[in-house]
Amino acid sequence: MSLVFVLNGPNLNRLGQRQPEIYGADTLDRIVEALHARAEALGLTLDARQSNHEGHLVDWLHEAADRGALAVILNAGALTHSSIALRDAILSIPTPVIEVHLSNPAAREPFRHVSHVSPVARGVIQGFGSLSYMLALDAAAALRQGAGR
Ligand code: DQA
Repeated sequence: MSLVFVLNGPNLNRLGQRQPEIYGADTLDRIVEALHARAEALGLTLDARQSNHEGHLVDWLHEAADRGALAVILNAGALTHSSIALRDAILSIPTPVIEVHLSNPAAREPFRHVSHVSPVARGVIQGFGSLSYMLALDAAAALRQGAGR
């Protein structure tokens, strides 16, 4: 079974309580539970993790590659807009990274318009709330058939 990593960065452990008018009412646990169900239907194995620490995300990107993951679904939270280390980590692995956001950062404050992840991601899905993760999982599944190339 193909392995897909789902990595979530800072403050995403607060989903459900954190600015629900922007990020929705679903908790991260609920989103991950729904992702697991969909992954099973798609014949994928998920490894979902969250950290508030940049270095953990860097280590997990490396681990995803070392374990031969099909793809990484990455919501780096605010690190999206600031982290060169995450950009470099993505460039250091062959694994395709699908950048995900619940909100549409392009429609928000100007400091969110810059993403250090987007230029090195395989693709970006943003603005669909928790559905963004589901769409990313479908995209990851489609990569098995060489989609998008
Ligand atoms: C976010 C958007 C980021 O700008 C923000 O810092 C987050 C969440 C999103 O999923 O919409 O933490 O990545």
